[in-house]
Amino acid sequence: MRELPKVELHLHLEGAAPPAFIRGLAQEKRIDISGIFTEDGGYAYRDFNHFLEVYEAACSVLTGPEEFARLTRAVLEESASHGVVYTEAFLSPDFCGGADKGAWQEYLAAMEEAAASVPEITLRGIVTCIRHFGPEQARKVAACAADTADDFIVGFGMGGAEDVGAPADYKWSFDCAREAGLQITTHAGEWGGAKSVRDSIEALDPVRIGHGVQAIDDPALCDLLAERKITLEVCPGSNVFLGVYPRLDKHPIERLRERGVKVTVSTDDPPFFRTTMTREYEALARTFGYDEAVFAELNQTALDAAFCDAATKETIR
Ligand code: ADE
Ligand code: ZN
Repeated sequence: MRELPKVELHLHLEGAAPPAFIRGLAQEKRIDISGIFTEDGGYAYRDFNHFLEVYEAACSVLTGPEEFARLTRAVLEESASHGVVYTEAFLSPDFCGGADKGAWQEYLAAMEEAAASVPEITLRGIVTCIRHFGPEQARKVAACAADTADDFIVGFGMGGAEDVGAPADYKWSFDCAREAGLQITTHAGEWGGAKSVRDSIEALDPVRIGHGVQAIDDPALCDLLAERKITLEVCPGSNVFLGVYPRLDKHPIERLRERGVKVTVSTDDPPFFRTTMTREYEALARTFGYDEAVFAELNQTALDAAFCDAATKETIR
């Protein structure tokens, strides 16, 4: 399972930071974030909102472009070791100098250069705003994204707390990014139910949705997703670890797939959820009987929905 070539579309760069890496930086910089770690060296949090707090605390030690370059190398080497050949990572100008355009360019250059030093895997970036930081901050993030749209920065998205505000509050930012040529994805239907998926489609017109799994509760919405070929970036391990579903056998990935919805598999924030792409595949094989043919289909769906250009896709095929 580990060797099987994999395409991953939903990975938060900072969320993929190994705890030992963050702890090491904290010690170097004498920043006390010891409270965010478990005794066995993992990340410690109680629930989703606390997860978001711990996530931000971990990011507080990533203080400059060099830290992000080191992070990028560490994350890509780990992904490549699990057979991932192509990955799209959410990159956050908010954590890279506070969504200042000049600072963002420096951070981005450092990440892109670091990515080139790991040739086993191709990285593309999706600039992401953070919903609970509010619409005004999202506009600054969108301006950063629009400013750096190119062959490497290929998308724009939104993560964070799904219960803050409405998707329509962020429409300006998404339109700005789209006009700059970026493709659109947004987190929805992880916590906010099928309605959140519907509202996001209406307000933001995404071609992919991060999670989207709660769409299963609305059959007409499933039909709409299938018809429009809106691809879901499904993160089963994340959903089970955070308690969206009690166990993998209750997870709707297979029911969505059976209904004709385009689904793909990703890890979201692997060390936070004690997962890897290998573990995701192993768990899906165990629980739903997925075999090589199903994994080939999921990877083809992911490649079709990837935001990179056709020439890049050719190099992955
Ligand atoms: N940011 C990092 N991981 C996330 C998740 N699972 N949901 C929303 N925002 C996130
Ligand atoms: Zn996510």
